[in-house]
Amino acid sequence: MAADLAVGIHDLSFATTEFVLPHTTLAAHNGTDIGKYHRGIGLRSMSVPAADEDIVTMGAAAAAPIVARHGSEAIRTVVLATESSVDQSKSAGIYVHSLLGLPAATRVVELKQACYGATAALQFATGLVHRDPSQRVLVIASDVSKYELDSPGEPTQGAAAAAMLVSADPALLRIEEPSGLFTADIMDFWRPNYLPTALVDGEESIAAYLQAVEGAWKDYTEQGGRALGEFRAFCYHQPFPKMAYKAHRHLLRNGGQDSDESRVVHDIGDTTAYNNVVGNSYTAAMYLGLASLLENADDLTGQPIGMFSYGSGSVAEFFAGTVVPGYRAHLRTAAHQKAVARRRPVDYAGYRDLHELSLPEDGSDHTVATQTSGPYRLAALSGHKRIYQPR
Ligand code: HMG
Repeated sequence: MAADLAVGIHDLSFATTEFVLPHTTLAAHNGTDIGKYHRGIGLRSMSVPAADEDIVTMGAAAAAPIVARHGSEAIRTVVLATESSVDQSKSAGIYVHSLLGLPAATRVVELKQACYGATAALQFATGLVHRDPSQRVLVIASDVSKYELDSPGEPTQGAAAAAMLVSADPALLRIEEPSGLFTADIMDFWRPNYLPTALVDGEESIAAYLQAVEGAWKDYTEQGGRALGEFRAFCYHQPFPKMAYKAHRHLLRNGGQDSDESRVVHDIGDTTAYNNVVGNSYTAAMYLGLASLLENADDLTGQPIGMFSYGSGSVAEFFAGTVVPGYRAHLRTAAHQKAVARRRPVDYAGYRDLHELSLPEDGSDHTVATQTSGPYRLAALSGHKRIYQPR
């Protein structure tokens, strides 16, 4: 293994849903002051999946442009991270592998640890590439965030998939050693197999997140990581954008640094553009934050970026990446803006119907309503099998 080999994110692409629910619509329904959504939690709208969209269709839509640009020859591993799994045994990545026509000589696996899973996938991928720099790994983070109707978590729902190609000599971000790690057995947010929506203790989840920031940063420092002042920007897991602000203030204060608003905005202000309109996309959220940062910040060439990944339950990791010279030529800004702009607004009744929609569980033949205009759809269920199709 070559320790000085640069390994990291070579390409980054995301996809989201067919529908969007503006927070003004939700606020009009439940009588909440819109300021709480727009300023209090920092969200303006949430992505809502169509009946025929799920983590597979979004994951394939996010990854297809990467395969189109780079080909599939060097991809020998696909890791799909999710907490919205569609099967207890079969990896959702196999459906994506099939939809994208990837070679049979591929290992495909699914990873889970709440929103943290994609970072575990990224770290596994960098290890594989260090072992054999000729190989590339396709990492896909795909999730649908769903809370009970009329619950405090409801305004923080969302859905998206981020796909990353991890390779040697990456074009976007070199992933650095060391990582700061933190695990605590805590019930801040979880979803038992029999529930369609997550259970959460909102206040405890925020406290657990902040405790994890401290813990992961402490370990990062003890492992010989960079000093706080060295980073040009920080990219946090964003269940809602204001959480990143809370977390960064906490980190700065703990590190004895200035935490005034201008410093915080300088450090993280460019990471929120997509999360702000997509909502929580769990595993994908931090990587939508990274896309937003790379696309919106002034030139970041050579700059170190701090990445804080958090998954309830809980596992967290703080690591650094360095932005690669020439990265701007490889960004997918127009496609990402289009993915967000193309969503069709849904009214409250339509949103509620989609929220309550459940697919048959008796193995009967069921044709799924055609709603999405995206490239892939869940077409039918039959004999307990999910049938996906390109559109
Ligand atoms: P809540 O309790 O209804 O909201 O839900 P609140 O009363 O705490 O208000 C939120 C903020 O809005 C507050 O600001 C208010 O002051 C402000 P803060 O004090 O926090 O700075 N506010 C207003 N601002 C302007 N104008 C107004 C106004 N009214 C109030 N008129 C809560 C908030 C986050 C608890 C809820 O949305 C929830 O339960 N969300 C789900 C859990 C969650 O996202 N937790 C985050 C940490 S855990 C995590 O990130 C992991 C996760 O992604 C899952 C995974 O890992 O898989 C969730």
